[in-house]
Amino acid sequence: MLKEKRIGMIGGGKMGGALMGGMISGGLVKAEALTVADKDEDRLGELVKAYGVTVTVDNRKAVRHADVVILAVKPQNMADVLDELADAVMPSALVISIAAGIATAFIEERLGKGVRVVRVMPNMPALIGEGAAALCCGVSAAEADLELARHIFGAVGITMEVKETLMDAVTGLGGSGPGYAFLIIEALTDAGIRMGLGREVALKLSAQSLFGAAKLCLLGKTPPAELRAMVTSPGGTTLAGLKVLEEGRLRETLISAVEAATRRSAELGGRK
Ligand SMILES: NC(=O)c1ccc[n+]([C@@H]2O[C@H](COP(=O)([O-])OP(=O)(O)OC[C@H]3O[C@@H](n4cnc5c(N)ncnc54)[C@H](OP(=O)(O)O)[C@@H]3O)[C@@H](O)[C@H]2O)c1
Repeated sequence: MLKEKRIGMIGGGKMGGALMGGMISGGLVKAEALTVADKDEDRLGELVKAYGVTVTVDNRKAVRHADVVILAVKPQNMADVLDELADAVMPSALVISIAAGIATAFIEERLGKGVRVVRVMPNMPALIGEGAAALCCGVSAAEADLELARHIFGAVGITMEVKETLMDAVTGLGGSGPGYAFLIIEALTDAGIRMGLGREVALKLSAQSLFGAAKLCLLGKTPPAELRAMVTSPGGTTLAGLKVLEEGRLRETLISAVEAATRRSAELGGRK
């Protein structure tokens, strides 16, 4: 799908790096087909060493011949980068943006009418190929463009299509989700230590319990509530623990956290 295409990436930081690693190791593209532009020359040196990609500090050079342009700079740098790229991007190019909160209309307006844009919200576990990314299309992007973007992000995790109006919710749940999980793992580890376990054992038990439970949920065969019922015997240990979590309003607290993060995403994008 991507084999004959040239890719230009602007921003080779954490997420850009994860993406190029996934695409190359997954055999989606050859390193020679990828040109990465970044203003950090040390970082560019690291990318050459790690992946053998072509690098440049000239953003326009990276996109001039690119069939697919991936924008992976911070949201606050997007306006400047788009203005710089406006007359360098090929009219036939597909533009994929991963910048949190930046609407497809904003990119279309700056790059010119008719540009095909797919917006993606990935999350941090993409770094190890276990990301979750939601995608939506701009006005001119076609089904084939969405498929191509799903193919790219499929190299670093799972993908799903959503309406653009739901991107703040995606950010509040999937974008921030790893942060919530880290807090839970941290707290469970501390609890294990308090109960007498060593730190390493407590951390492994906490993280693997969440990982295993998450994998069972992702199989999609049994809803989480049913899985929970399966591990909760009357008068047993899990019931005793769950009772405390319900009394502590964990469920409501998590819902409020996702609401707050969704609101914040809208605020940062100037939508509220
Ligand atoms: N990391 C995540 O978990 C995550 C999750 C979802 C979405 N995203 C999105 O992914 C994008 C990148 O995030 P990141 O975490 O990968 O950021 P990052 O590590 O800071 O990478 C961005 C890179 O772009 C470079 N850069 C800045 N301005 C530039 C310019 N004008 N031209 C060329 N390169 C420029 C930066 O260089 P300097 O460091 O020298 O400024 C940096 O190397 C963001 O828009 C973010 O919203 C990230």
